[in-house]
Amino acid sequence: MDSNRLISSSKLRFISGFLFPVMIAAIGVNYGQIANNLPSPENVVPLVKSIGASKVKLYDTDPRVLKAFANTGVEFIVGLGNECLASMRDPNKAQAWVKTHVQAYLPATKITSIAVGNEVLTFNDTSLSDNLVPAMQSIHTALVNLNLDKQVSVTTAHSLAVLEASYPPSSGAFRRDLRGCISQILNFHVKIGSPFLINAYPYFAYKSSPKQVPIDFVLFQPNSGIVDPVSNLRYDNMLFAQIDAVYYALASLGYKNLPIQISETGWPSKGDEDEVGATLENAKKYNGNLLKMIAQKKGTPLKPNCDLNIFVFALFNENMKPGPTSERNYGLFKPDGTPAYSLGFTGNIMANTSSGGGSTSTVTPPSAGSPPGSSSNGYLSISSDAGGLHFASTWFILCLVTLAFV
Ligand SMILES: *[C@@H]1O[C@H](CO)[C@@H](O)[C@H](O)[C@H]1NC(C)=O
Ligand SMILES: *[C@@H]1O[C@H](CO)[C@@H](O)[C@H](O)[C@H]1NC(C)=O
Repeated sequence: MDSNRLISSSKLRFISGFLFPVMIAAIGVNYGQIANNLPSPENVVPLVKSIGASKVKLYDTDPRVLKAFANTGVEFIVGLGNECLASMRDPNKAQAWVKTHVQAYLPATKITSIAVGNEVLTFNDTSLSDNLVPAMQSIHTALVNLNLDKQVSVTTAHSLAVLEASYPPSSGAFRRDLRGCISQILNFHVKIGSPFLINAYPYFAYKSSPKQVPIDFVLFQPNSGIVDPVSNLRYDNMLFAQIDAVYYALASLGYKNLPIQISETGWPSKGDEDEVGATLENAKKYNGNLLKMIAQKKGTPLKPNCDLNIFVFALFNENMKPGPTSERNYGLFKPDGTPAYSLGFTGNIMANTSSGGGSTSTVTPPSAGSPPGSSSNGYLSISSDAGGLHFASTWFILCLVTLAFV
């Protein structure tokens, strides 16, 4: 897979004359569009490339975007909205959907995955979640029928709130009431070879307990870290702790080797007065450090050799997202296409791409937030709150107590 990507990317670079960092571990970015002031998709192509992103996640199948990115080599995860799940039970409708919204853009636009629904399980609406696995299956069957299943995979993105425990990471477990449905989803992933997608926001954990959670730990700044008392693994950042909690939760259901991708993570550059931590400086640190870390291809303490596929949230500040101010300020870019802040890299991504390491952009980083949203397609909720949020403070208190007694 990796080598294929390298080959095709080099070819693309050769053909198009674009320089972008082909050797860098794949940086992904979420392209949310709940706004009325965003640049046209043609003008977004260079922005995506300027941050070294080779993957984009869309919450829909916006034809303007999919056309604008034709022949760019950028890989797409497209979204099938929550409002479509019920009708996808009908195989004919699923096939029609795939033809119109996916097949029509292939192969020029590299759609590699369909995210069926967004954070479906944490809406706590069984009439919605009962449709999830059948919809995923119908879409996959449609892809098989159209002979596209080898190039387009099927998955769905979850909020971290599907976990009922995430601290310490070794205690990671799915919410009891969701385990049945999640097991079906995991079986599906194993059967077709697709990854488990999770949206993870250390920002929420910090916001809910700023006094207990060390800011350096959430922003990937140097710190002494925390040792998981069960696994003895040392964590120096919260995102990795959250990801490992998901690995442990998967293992507890018997899916130890299922790959995970981080379908959203980020940090808002602005928030309301009561939104502690939502500042330009913090967003710059979180996203700048995150991109550097992705470039170093670091795995988590539990899976040090597994490449992380991370999609930063989000490309743009989105002025029409509901909720607190932070929701509208996760963007790496302002609507006029200028960086929301500098990512703090010294190099310039456009200048040199050959060697491997790093994320080099001078451009701005993405900041993220929770999913913006049109409630209709599920790209909305700040969902992440529930399970994951309180984890940090509790865990820290536990660790401090543990230390005190050692
Ligand atoms: C969903 O249910 C869980 C567990 O019962 C609860 O903790 C959570 O707050 C609920 N979420 C919503 C959005 O109602
Ligand atoms: C890019 O790298 C090449 C060779 O590694 C080097 O010769 C060139 O000067 C670099 N360009 C910039 C702008 O750093």
